[in-house]
Amino acid sequence: MYARITGTGSYLPGLPVSNDDLVRRGVDTSDEWIITRTGIRARHLVEPGRMTSDLAFEASCRALEAAGCKASELDLIIVATTTPDFILPSTACLLQARIGNVGAMTFDVQAVCGGFMYALSIVEKFIRSGSHKKALVVGAEVISRILDWQDRGTCVLFGDGAGAVVVEASEAYEAYDTPGILSTVMRADGSHHGILSVAGQICGGQIVGDPFLRMDGQAVFKFAVRVLSEVAHECCDSAGISPSGIDWLIPHQANIRIIESTVRKLNLSMDKVVVTVDRHGNTSAASIPLALDVAVRDGRIRRGQKILLEGVGAGVTWGAVLLQF
Ligand code: UT7
Repeated sequence: MYARITGTGSYLPGLPVSNDDLVRRGVDTSDEWIITRTGIRARHLVEPGRMTSDLAFEASCRALEAAGCKASELDLIIVATTTPDFILPSTACLLQARIGNVGAMTFDVQAVCGGFMYALSIVEKFIRSGSHKKALVVGAEVISRILDWQDRGTCVLFGDGAGAVVVEASEAYEAYDTPGILSTVMRADGSHHGILSVAGQICGGQIVGDPFLRMDGQAVFKFAVRVLSEVAHECCDSAGISPSGIDWLIPHQANIRIIESTVRKLNLSMDKVVVTVDRHGNTSAASIPLALDVAVRDGRIRRGQKILLEGVGAGVTWGAVLLQF
């Protein structure tokens, strides 16, 4: 039994906000600095009143349509998010109600930018065990709500969005050319929790601690490049192929310099890498399914190709999924 992606979808809210738009809004930065240091040209910022589940809903509808799957057929729904609509219930349950499903096992995963990798790997285990047959896996964020717009070292980097995939059970015998997920590797090292965090909470009706995202950018950068190249090797090794044997690498879309450094360490060419960070900045758990959907819909990714997805985020969490699409 394999777990196979049968449909992808994504959604970006509102109009793109350019780097110059941020300057006009009073951020002490420049288009030249942001492009040179990050590769980001624009991001999308959610409209007032809209929530993570709203973005997740749009991406999910597109993924379900692409898979030819009805919401009522799903038996597992996971949303990876670090910006849930509410403290409770889970954003996944809110999404479940919106798409019109009753009865699927439904929960959120919190592994920040590593969240979609974790969620996809969890789904693969459920499907391979035979306990579940059709899953919806979503990465969705309104990360702009936890940005300090006075902190130019972070606020220019992030954006809002959602990406979704439908994953279905596929018997090995019927999956000769497109078996689906071949290997997964998930890791975390909580001793580095301080390099990227929102160290606040609500207690007794008050915000306690710091409600904004804080980051040691250089520490995150170095950590990310190291673990993204390590985990890519580990994931390929466990499927018995070398990184040079993959058709497409879809890394977490945080910074073009992190992507380029990782690609250099893996001895790959940038021609094999899907890059969308320029259009939407770092959308945390949404970034990998967003990039996957773009490359599927524009025809770059085709059935039968080997795709390596990999992400890293606060925690620190990281992971990779190798699949034959
Ligand atoms: O999912 C993972 C999420 N996190 C990341 O991906 C972040 C990883 N880290 C990075 O991408 C980079 O560290 C940054 C892009 C955040 C920063 O780039 P850097 O090359 O490490 O710059 P820096 O922090 O060393 O800052 C260099 C200079 C500083 O000025 P001085 O002290 O040299 O005068 C900063 O104050 O750049 C200044 N600076 C800015 N200038 C214009 C910092 N942010 C900005 C800005 N616009 N937005």
